[in-house]
Amino acid sequence: MTRRVCIIDTDPGTDDALAIWLALAAPQLDVRLVTVAGGNVGIDHTLRNARAIIGLARQPVPVVAGAQGPLLGAFRSETQVHGADGLAGVALPEGPPAAPGIAADAIRDLLRAEPRVTLIGIGPATNLALALATEPALIGHVEEIVLMTGAWSEGNITASAEFNAWSDPESLAMLLECGRPVTLATLELTGQALVTPDRIAALRAAGGGACLDAAARILAAVPPSRRFGHRGHPLHDPCAIAWLIDPTLFTHRDVHVHVECGGIARGRTVVDRWARGGAAANARLLDTLDADGFFALLTGRLASLA
Ligand code: RIB
Ligand code: CA
Repeated sequence: MTRRVCIIDTDPGTDDALAIWLALAAPQLDVRLVTVAGGNVGIDHTLRNARAIIGLARQPVPVVAGAQGPLLGAFRSETQVHGADGLAGVALPEGPPAAPGIAADAIRDLLRAEPRVTLIGIGPATNLALALATEPALIGHVEEIVLMTGAWSEGNITASAEFNAWSDPESLAMLLECGRPVTLATLELTGQALVTPDRIAALRAAGGGACLDAAARILAAVPPSRRFGHRGHPLHDPCAIAWLIDPTLFTHRDVHVHVECGGIARGRTVVDRWARGGAAANARLLDTLDADGFFALLTGRLASLA
């Protein structure tokens, strides 16, 4: 099996934690670098959380700090979902120190060293955009960009925008126009991955190590979403990872996506699902998810971790 060389850019983040553990547990993925941005919570917390998440899995993946906030506009955290610490109050042992340097530089260094790198963005896209804007010649080394971002129906941070897209729409727009394949897991996809008490119980019953235990505690600590009638909460970021592990869990279509960067609709992703506008597709939109298959994958992989 050829393993995909990957970079995960993240803002942990309760769902980021499970996404990172899923990626580390996937034989298909070779996670070489984790870069961190401010997002769900400030970068002091997201960096500490990323170090702790990697440390708990006992895998020597470098963690590098990056953008504290977006290219333009104000930074705003999302502590209602993730708590003040970013992990819903679930304390993890301190992880190894962050690697020196800056995220955008570390991303470029790996792109320079590897001919095919998959960029996985599960937070605001600032670090990824900065890296590609600084050295455009490296774009040819990007195999695929997979993002948890955007929404074509309602938003989750404003009426019209999803949090990652809203946090840095300019960076998202840059990635959509970079000329490499971009795959999007929007809110409509991730809303099919609803974490319910039964699914948490199934995770706990799998009997894994510290990562599975922490994952179950984190999932149990996230408040149920009013968008889903308090039946559970959507597990956003692991959907982006699952696409790379088992694409048969998904259906998808090629679409054109425009990102609004100003005004009341800032961060709105205008997704032309039926090609009404005639613009060339610039993204692969993940449409449907086999939710039971997704949670079976997540549970089985997390059970294999330390
Ligand atoms: O809107 C959901 C996204 O925003 C997820 O990546 C979550 O972690 C937050 O960053
Ligand atoms: Ca995230």
